[in-house]
Amino acid sequence: MDKLVIEGGVPLTGVIEVSGAKNAALPILFASILLDGPVSISNVPDLRDIHTTLKLLNLLGCACDYQNGRVEARPGDLLPEAPYDLVRTMRASVLCLGPLLARIGRARVALPGGCAIGARPVDQHLKGLERMGASFQLEEGYILGRCRRLKGAHIILDMPTVGGTENLLMAAALAEGETVLENAAREPEVVDLANFLRACGAQIEGHGTPSIRIRGVPTLHGGEYAVMPDRIEAGTFLVAAGITGGELLLRHCPFEELEAVILKLRSMGMEISQTPEGTLARRGATLHATDVTTQPYPGFPTDMQAQIMALMCLADGAGVVEESIFENRYMHVQELNRMGARIRVSGYTAMIRGVQKLTGAPVMASDLRASASLVLAGLAARGTTEVRRIYHLDRGYERIESKLNAVGARIRRERE
Ligand code: EPZ
Repeated sequence: MDKLVIEGGVPLTGVIEVSGAKNAALPILFASILLDGPVSISNVPDLRDIHTTLKLLNLLGCACDYQNGRVEARPGDLLPEAPYDLVRTMRASVLCLGPLLARIGRARVALPGGCAIGARPVDQHLKGLERMGASFQLEEGYILGRCRRLKGAHIILDMPTVGGTENLLMAAALAEGETVLENAAREPEVVDLANFLRACGAQIEGHGTPSIRIRGVPTLHGGEYAVMPDRIEAGTFLVAAGITGGELLLRHCPFEELEAVILKLRSMGMEISQTPEGTLARRGATLHATDVTTQPYPGFPTDMQAQIMALMCLADGAGVVEESIFENRYMHVQELNRMGARIRVSGYTAMIRGVQKLTGAPVMASDLRASASLVLAGLAARGTTEVRRIYHLDRGYERIESKLNAVGARIRRERE
């Protein structure tokens, strides 16, 4: 296992390129299963989860190769099985369920277990697909799904689940008749998936709103598509500018899709503006405390909760964070406290009292965004921080230490 060794205290200044969005690229890659021709997908970030997805797609009979951020996918004779040893490393593998049922009427997908941040059930995915005519059995930890041709249905989701919306959107694209998804997720990554499907001939309206209408078509063709930039990676770098007291220019930063994050960071005293070259971010005079409640899009994203909490550790005053999406997304708190932060958790709420400084320490990454918050804290801390188990980080951040070192950070990757 690798660790990152960070010498903190350097204000970061310079230009960072934002990569393609992991959480848009993953469903878009799974959607290639639906196509009856080759597709070329660009701006795909070089991440562990992407390579896990490509491995799974090749296993399923959709031949994929990856070169310099571009995936060429050629769907062939599809097989129904997504094995446990792949699914357990990446829960998003469940996104093959809808496409397989839509294309070949059967699927045998390992039921994704929980993960560090929560139970992560997939009941909404299954309920929606059952409404479209699929039937499921659970056998030895695998979901066995079967259907004749999926039929369009009127589906009301219990909550605006991102993965559930994506699975049902993909299934509905080839179903017979019309599907209406109510209480659908509005995340930009869902919109990117819908735009990809439309580019392949799908008939979809209302994506980005709580009610999406899909008219099924007999086949979908291939083509070309570029994945949107990663708003969570960009948001992480905005915090890096604030927490180190530097100034960063982010190229390809999805400014509009980060509105809730930018408004919150500005309320803390950061100066963030759009320029012709990109998004410019700096700390400003002092950092003030703020309160954050995570919400489905367009609210404050849960995937930025750990990162803004790191910034709040060094703000004047006390702030409150409420994590309303996942039941266990405070694994970074104890590690931040080891660095001198003053955070108390009670239930879904965390109280953060700002401190003058953080001090470097050995800390343990537990999940993707918790790892990012520990790196951010290490960049600001006095002394050396060792972030262990950074395979979590490599799932969602492309070459993070080289991007940060290029703007003045002092980070070494070492074998544990
Ligand atoms: C996606 O996960 C993202 N992952 C997550 O990003 C992100 O945190 C999450 O959406 C919320 O924005 C990808 O896109 C690959 P959900 P997903 O279904 O689809 C409950 C990261 O850091 N729920 O919207 O799994 C669930 O328990 C990752 O990049 C059900 O109860 O999230 C959770 O409380 C972490 N039943 C809430 O809904 C279901 O069938 C939101 O989950 C589905 C979900």
